[in-house]
Amino acid sequence: MKKTLALLLALTMVFALCAAPAYAAPKTYKVGIAIYQFDDNFMTLYRNEMLDYFKSLETDDVKYDVTIVDGKNDMAEQNNQIDNFITQGMDAIILNLVQTSSADAAIDKIVDAGIPCILINREPLGDKGDESYEGILNNATVCYVGADARQSGTYQGEIIGELDNHGDINGDGKISYIMIEGDPENIDAQYRTEFSIKALKDAGYEVECLDDQIGNWAQAKGQEICANDLAKFGDKVEVVFCNNDAMALGAATAIQAAGRTVGKDIYLVGVDALEECVEMVNDGTMTGTVLNDAVGQSHAAVDVTVKALNGEAINNYYWVDYVKVTKAA
Ligand code: GAL
Repeated sequence: MKKTLALLLALTMVFALCAAPAYAAPKTYKVGIAIYQFDDNFMTLYRNEMLDYFKSLETDDVKYDVTIVDGKNDMAEQNNQIDNFITQGMDAIILNLVQTSSADAAIDKIVDAGIPCILINREPLGDKGDESYEGILNNATVCYVGADARQSGTYQGEIIGELDNHGDINGDGKISYIMIEGDPENIDAQYRTEFSIKALKDAGYEVECLDDQIGNWAQAKGQEICANDLAKFGDKVEVVFCNNDAMALGAATAIQAAGRTVGKDIYLVGVDALEECVEMVNDGTMTGTVLNDAVGQSHAAVDVTVKALNGEAINNYYWVDYVKVTKAA
């Protein structure tokens, strides 16, 4: 009797074991993200959205172990971070370069290590400095995800050109402006500076550049440059072009401190459509901005990373559109 019971018990256990689903550990991909500088308003939105989106794509079977590092606007620091990512055996690297002129060396290392490389936000420049970078991106495991900065510049110019007085407040036949630029090596800064003015000229307007200064994308610099220019040129300044919204926020403070009124005796445009700037556009303290789609770009970057992790073919370029933002009618 005892034997029969023991046999039954043993058989039950064998059945139970066979019926239990096989336990499979989830597949975990290691992803390294190197950001040029955490202290940047737009890139903060962008990087947080990437982290959230990676999390949202996780399932019981697939996890993403994401490591994100701050390059502190220092290329030597970022090179070390890339070396560490390679040593840590990352399955993919998302790279927001500190210096696009260092693109070759950085990308070469990643490609040699057999790791897919997804470049974001800062498009490497061509040899001539005026063409999109075609060289190293011509590689099956390297791509650039971004927005065409020419479009954002054109939209800035159009926002001014479409005003009733086309930005010529004093009616002297020319639009007198100051330009506050991002970092000079950055194609976004170069194109926004060039194409905002080109849009006005193409529309047949005369322009006069009173000053053109480097603000390195930073709010405090934008404020300082704008304050100095308003003190120097006074009422002559009709339009303040800023390559991004952070600098436009600074410029707005300087404009207010100088007793000037946006929409009445001066115009102010930026790029990025930071939430506070969209509010300012709606309440009239900024003339306009251009949406630099952090959500669209970060999702596109993560989606292409996942494709590469799955061994699927990727394109070399992924473009996300800018959108003009003016006061809601
Ligand atoms: C631009 C953005 C700027 C700054 C810069 C960093 O696209 O408009 O605000 O974030 O990227 O490279």
